Amino acid sequence: MSKTKVIAFANNKGGSGKTTTCSNVGCAMAMLGKKVLMIDGDMQLNLTISFFDEEKAYEFAKGETNIYRAIKDERDLSDYIVETSIKGLDIIPSTSLMSSIEFDLFAKWQRESVLKKCLERVRAKGYYDYILIDSPPTLGGWVMNVMCASDYVVVPVEASPWGLFGLANMFDFCNQAKSMAPNLEVLGIAVTKADERKKYFKQTMETLQEMEGARLFENYIRVDSTVEWAQDNSQPVVAFKKNSRSAKEYMELTKEIMKYANR
Ligand SMILES: Nc1ncnc2c1ncn2[C@@H]1O[C@H](COP(=O)(O)OP(=O)(O)OP(=O)(O)O)[C@@H](O)[C@H]1O
Ligand SMILES: [Mg+2]
Repeated sequence: MSKTKVIAFANNKGGSGKTTTCSNVGCAMAMLGKKVLMIDGDMQLNLTISFFDEEKAYEFAKGETNIYRAIKDERDLSDYIVETSIKGLDIIPSTSLMSSIEFDLFAKWQRESVLKKCLERVRAKGYYDYILIDSPPTLGGWVMNVMCASDYVVVPVEASPWGLFGLANMFDFCNQAKSMAPNLEVLGIAVTKADERKKYFKQTMETLQEMEGARLFENYIRVDSTVEWAQDNSQPVVAFKKNSRSAKEYMELTKEIMKYANR
């Protein structure tokens, strides 16, 4: 069996911290000496621009090197990988054409497993320790592909009232995915943009702790503008400001994720 673990970052709630978490966890894993491939599965290109300036991101998007091309033509993903400036960290970029992926998938044979099949050879080579997939804020056929290609799902949740609203739909969707991918496991909930000064934060954590069937990661990420400054510089905060509070929080969360994903 391949040693490569595939982890999806998914939540249908927009702005819950999926991309920020995916980029920082991927970068932290690479900084810890792991070989990591990230896949930008969202038409917003946010994961791609976490590592490249806009000009370079548009070059990938307009050219052939992006996830849309690979899925549409059902190609081996090995040919769509580009290196980032971080040692050990590679990415398959996205494109705004991902807006029509649902339409393209519709006519395909075994349409929930297209990504899984395209990823088969990359997994079989066993070069990567982890493959991380960033998802769009939807629960359709494409995110079902992401689930079916993954071993684990990490669900980033914003510590706010609306951050929790709709979470049940997300877990129902994971259960549906399990009927097609029985080994899929919800690895845990990662709380992001936490503000400990707010009374509501404590209540959020209590609600999440009491939720059955999903682990709440002990390490959470507090709200911090350093995260945004890092993004403005096309870098995850763990690389941009290694000694910042956010970088340390992401490093700890990454170690926790790796601990559970390697059991
Ligand atoms: N710890 C943090 N502190 C401050 N701002 C943050 C933090 N984490 C994320 N953000 C900001 O919150 C916004 C949403 O984060 P992000 O893009 O990661 O969420 P998302 O779930 O990927 O969104 P989408 O559903 O649109 O893909 C971004 O503008 C990001 O800069
Ligand atoms: Mg995103």
